[in-house]
Amino acid sequence: VTAPPHAPILPSPAWEQAFARRTRGAGGAITAILAMAGAEDVITFSGGFPAPETFPTAQLAGVAADLIGTDGARALQYAPTPGLPGLRQALADRLERTEGVRPDDDELLVTSGGIDALGLVGHAMLDRGDRVIVEAPTYLGAITAFRGFEAELTEVPVDAEGLDVEALAAVLAAGTGPKLLYTIPDHQNPTGLTLSTERRIALVELCRRHRVLVVEDVAYRELGPSDAVDTIPPSLFSLAPDVVVQIGTFSKTLFPGVRLGWAVGPAPVIAQMVAAKQNTDQCAGALGQCLAEAYLRSGDYDAQLPRSRALYASRRRAMLDACATHLPAGVTWTEPDGGFFTWLTAPGVDTGALADRALAAGVAYVPGAPFYATAGSGQSQLRLSYSRVDPLDIDEGMHRLGALLTAAATR
Ligand SMILES: Cc1ncc(COP(=O)(O)O)c(C=O)c1O
Repeated sequence: VTAPPHAPILPSPAWEQAFARRTRGAGGAITAILAMAGAEDVITFSGGFPAPETFPTAQLAGVAADLIGTDGARALQYAPTPGLPGLRQALADRLERTEGVRPDDDELLVTSGGIDALGLVGHAMLDRGDRVIVEAPTYLGAITAFRGFEAELTEVPVDAEGLDVEALAAVLAAGTGPKLLYTIPDHQNPTGLTLSTERRIALVELCRRHRVLVVEDVAYRELGPSDAVDTIPPSLFSLAPDVVVQIGTFSKTLFPGVRLGWAVGPAPVIAQMVAAKQNTDQCAGALGQCLAEAYLRSGDYDAQLPRSRALYASRRRAMLDACATHLPAGVTWTEPDGGFFTWLTAPGVDTGALADRALAAGVAYVPGAPFYATAGSGQSQLRLSYSRVDPLDIDEGMHRLGALLTAAATR
């Protein structure tokens, strides 16, 4: 039998050698987390997944059928790059109500989720070698995104009150000239901790003085402890719309399966992000935008949020109780009052090596190292997400993890 003429006759090329330098070796940690989305016999504390109980399936089924039946020409069409006028209006109305600041038309952009907004900030602002300040630890997707633009990352630690603003002042005084500061002030990923109001005021003053653009990621802002808006610390954007780009997402509060978010900030920055989006996906999907608009306008989004907060509060309580019950002496954890995560420190334990043993024992978490921009940090830390696990499983999962940590510490 002779090989057909198109059969390969040479060894296949080593494509790895042709990979772009800026993305070589990137992406492993997030791919592994998303791969766990459908894992069955494992109690998974790994991804920042919302609880499916919070998805408004019945309402959206009706809205989607109606939209496609009566307004398909709009819902199934391309959208303008800055977003469909109806959703933009609904977002501006809501921001005015929740943040006390109404963005002008040229200060708002609809994005395909939070990570898209971050990527657009990078496209708009970053050249190779530009400096970005990030929290230590921070959202690992942001580290990967900024690295994708060959930015140099400088870390500033977080403590119980969020980003250490004195440490930030010292970095800025050292004159390294960063272009951006990326921060998650509310129920941070991965620690769950929140920036105090005093620090918020000091942070924006400092960045204004040093001409650093603040990228404020509010992914978990509306998933705090309280329904009372006046008990929530002011957003950085509301304090300083001249130096802050706020990026938000519907992924944690509504539907990550529809990739939808937004960015608000200074008009020139938003204009440059709109230009950048013409070079990426050109527009967020119109169907998702129409769904979100209808859901926001119906009032159901605002009605669902308190129910979501209550659900996550009960899971958080179960997780913190399970930490106290099952973790061995010496292990510490953060005590957040919102968001999806708690952050564990287990001195002397290599949490990267332990992750495989944990998986074999039927429990998954994310090891700490990928949440730091500096190699070698976070090796005895790990992130636990309680958002998608019911309280009985939380207890059982932490029982398993506690036994593994006890064994690892006594090795
Ligand atoms: C802080 C933070 N920002 C952004 C995102 C990504 O949001 P999206 O799924 O909308 O891209 C996440 C998701 O884990 C996150 O934790």
